[in-house]
Amino acid sequence: MARILTGIQSTGTPHLGNILGAILPAIELSNTGSNESFLFIADMHSLTQIKNGVELRENTYSVAATWLAFGLDTSKTVFYRQSDVPECAELTWYLSCFFPYQRLTLAHSFKDKSDRLSDVNSGLFSYPMLMAADILLYDANFVPVGKDQLQHIEMTRDVASRINHLYGEELLVLPEPKIQEETQLIVGTDGEKMSKSRNNYINVFEDDKTLKNNINKKIITDATPLEDPKNPESSSVYELYKTVASPQRVLKMSQKLLAGGYGWGHAKKDLLDAIIAKFGDAREKYHYFMNHKNEIDEVLHQGAEKAKAVAQATLGRVREKMGY
Ligand code: ADP
Ligand code: TRP
Repeated sequence: MARILTGIQSTGTPHLGNILGAILPAIELSNTGSNESFLFIADMHSLTQIKNGVELRENTYSVAATWLAFGLDTSKTVFYRQSDVPECAELTWYLSCFFPYQRLTLAHSFKDKSDRLSDVNSGLFSYPMLMAADILLYDANFVPVGKDQLQHIEMTRDVASRINHLYGEELLVLPEPKIQEETQLIVGTDGEKMSKSRNNYINVFEDDKTLKNNINKKIITDATPLEDPKNPESSSVYELYKTVASPQRVLKMSQKLLAGGYGWGHAKKDLLDAIIAKFGDAREKYHYFMNHKNEIDEVLHQGAEKAKAVAQATLGRVREKMGY
């Protein structure tokens, strides 16, 4: 049985793009597969960007509540908070002492982030070592990630090989990346890729009124008069509708837009209704968990207990070799 492991940063409330592109496919994988899966909230990675403790804690709950609301089966998955297993920080240090500084300076994601962010701290620089520790601590075989994370997996394999080579044995398990190519790319309200940093996202957990206002205000449309025919592809209302409505309804919307007499305002209302219909149940559960954080704590605590047992065994092997 292979062990699959992946982490999700807790940098905000997951948006429609995160849910459709990452969360639902991963839930499908862990609920149905015969593999053993480890899924964690990378709240120590989030500290590279979020310094407000209240916000960081709330984000962690929000991410956990989303996974639970969409039906993650925690009896089949080891679901935990990264910071609940501080052994990870210890392994990060060991790995850092085996990985050339020069190689870290070549990380694309650091270059990309240091160009965009004002807070370029050294945690951001050594981020790949923390990620390598996340993976190596649990002897993971496969790591599902987006393409942007591929280099981090290569660094993980590199540092593990260096250590194995030095100590002359398979001390650490080399993980394989599992690139999620086929995941759907969800467009944002401006037609670009939906993303937190572009502020073009849709938060499906907002109350109906806020969600409606955001859909109306954020989605860009042209000024074609109501009675005129419209090109469905000219606004992301239609693109977004495709991700949440049935094919028959999508066809109907495109016919109505092409025929004229159906405005973008109508299309936005139909999009709102489709989101509420599709996510009604998950929205309710999300708010239930956000109002019962003790239940989230309980689930994450149980996950952390299981994770810790594996982490301590790995660290035991490593410490011994390193002379501690
Ligand atoms: P963001 O770009 O909003 O900060 P993240 O980089 O934290 O999102 O992404 C978390 C996960 O969600 C990743 O697996 C990523 O591939 C997926 N994801 C993010 N935005 C989209 C999108 N617009 N469409 C599909 N998947 C997405
Ligand atoms: N860096 C990953 C991202 O931004 C999140 C992450 C942290 C991760 N640790 C991990 C992913 C370990 C896979 C395995 O998406």
